[in-house]
Amino acid sequence: MKILAIVGSPRRDRGLSERVAARLLAGASGAGAQTETLYLSDEQPEFCRGCGHSCFAELDCIQEPEATERSAAIEAADALVLCAPVYCWQPNGLTAALFDKVRLSTGPWRDASQHGKPALGVAVAGGTGSGVFTALQSIYAWFCLWKYRPLPPVPVTRFNLEAVLEDAGSLGRALVNAGRRPYGNTGELLTTYDALPALRYGRVDEFRWLARTIVQGFERRGQPDARVASLRKMLAEAEALAAAGDAVGAADKYAAAHLAGLEAW
Ligand SMILES: Cc1cc2nc3c(=O)[nH]c(=O)nc-3n(C[C@H](O)[C@H](O)[C@H](O)COP(=O)(O)O)c2cc1C
Repeated sequence: MKILAIVGSPRRDRGLSERVAARLLAGASGAGAQTETLYLSDEQPEFCRGCGHSCFAELDCIQEPEATERSAAIEAADALVLCAPVYCWQPNGLTAALFDKVRLSTGPWRDASQHGKPALGVAVAGGTGSGVFTALQSIYAWFCLWKYRPLPPVPVTRFNLEAVLEDAGSLGRALVNAGRRPYGNTGELLTTYDALPALRYGRVDEFRWLARTIVQGFERRGQPDARVASLRKMLAEAEALAAAGDAVGAADKYAAAHLAGLEAW
């Protein structure tokens, strides 16, 4: 079994995306998989010009032969890992350029032919952490378009990085053990993705998750001090506002808790 990891960081192997990808692949390799990494910084994919060529049918890019080769490399893998940095609450442009040009022989969502290969998406929001779920939603929309079988999305921030790195080996093994599971129909494809909890997150859910994750990160570091107590109090206030039906007040409090946590981190 061959697993391909795509690293979308322009910092190639010096960024957090690579750190997570390397741990995932180490786990996969330990479970018997053959692994390979595709660094988009080496590829410098061009943006799609919408030239009108029938690339979805022909599976080639007449503007950039390397794009056709990238599609072939992705098609040749039995499972996919995609690690993308979060820039401005989205997967970065290098990753988006890849997304636009990949063509698989099984076709996009509307074609009946299936491959059912497993895929795992990682979004690395190494700054404030915000945008990590919108980026994951974008990555998983692309997985859905190409009919991959999703493993649960992995949000990575400075606050949970160590925990993710610890779990990454077992996630890599899970990817190997997942195997191919083609979809029976489009309805099964769509509902499979909609059932992934993080794909339903809105902005407020994200700030609530971030504030909680910062608290957990402090606890993990063994620093449950006054700052953590204050963050917990803010979270409890936000939850009370939400329970009382004050959605705007709760959102404001979650965002404030996130900012206070960020400052303390
Ligand atoms: C233009 C730009 C925009 C960014 N936007 C965000 C953001 O929205 N949220 C965040 O948490 N971090 C943001 N970051 C920080 C990156 O997510 C962080 O540097 C991450 O570690 C990049 O991945 P890498 O280490 O694999 O290169 C941004 C960085 C750049 C350069």
